[in-house]
Amino acid sequence: MDFTDQRLSYEKGRLDQQSVPASPFELLKGWIGEATEKQVQEPYAMSLATCGADNKPSVRIVLMREITETGIVFYTNYESAKGQDIAENPNAEVLFFWHELERQIRISGSIAKIDTDKSAAYFQKRPHDSQVGALVSQPQSGEVANREVMEQTFDQLQTDYPESTKVPTPEFWGGYEITVDKIEFWQGRANRMHDRIVYNRDTNSSSKDIVSWNTKRLLP
Ligand SMILES: Cc1cc2nc3c(=O)[nH]c(=O)nc-3n(C[C@H](O)[C@H](O)[C@H](O)COP(=O)(O)O)c2cc1C
Repeated sequence: MDFTDQRLSYEKGRLDQQSVPASPFELLKGWIGEATEKQVQEPYAMSLATCGADNKPSVRIVLMREITETGIVFYTNYESAKGQDIAENPNAEVLFFWHELERQIRISGSIAKIDTDKSAAYFQKRPHDSQVGALVSQPQSGEVANREVMEQTFDQLQTDYPESTKVPTPEFWGGYEITVDKIEFWQGRANRMHDRIVYNRDTNSSSKDIVSWNTKRLLP
């Protein structure tokens, strides 16, 4: 198959360095809001790239569950392939792409586990079947002989923890926060003259609490 004649002209928006907000989180929330309004399905789904000690990058989708003052949070199995990568190398990058808005956002930073209390609070909020599903998928990314094995484990766990019972939050499951160092907002424009504005966290900030950001325009 050859896709070399396939091209679209992107003309839905623009980004000006002078008018972007001082905080990239404000712009991130604004763009997520617009993606939601434009009916993008799961606009908080993001590709997460990690790289362990083997130096081989891996990428997969996870769901952003929260935007905090310093970063973004997602939940997963700490013993999964991505969990192993993160244990070996906390640097990661995530990517959002919303075709409907001709926009891409790249976020990079370092990852750390969030508080166990916060993970437990979220786990307990999940539907019962999702909680059971998380128990079945242990270790996530490990090999399983066939689908029947998974289904039998699921049924057994449904017996062990009927709907009315609390499923204990597993130690191997929880949230990670990516503390953001850099965010690039990309808006498609005509003639491949796309707008790219990148925010870098100001490392000269004297106080840990006062985070300032500088912006740059990048060539497309
Ligand atoms: C739309 C979508 C949302 C997903 N959300 C999550 C998630 O929030 N957490 C998670 O662990 N896996 C999620 N997954 C599954 C991951 O993409 C991946 O298959 C799994 O986490 C194992 O990845 P790993 O082997 O690299 O650790 C999602 C997949 C899709 C397609």
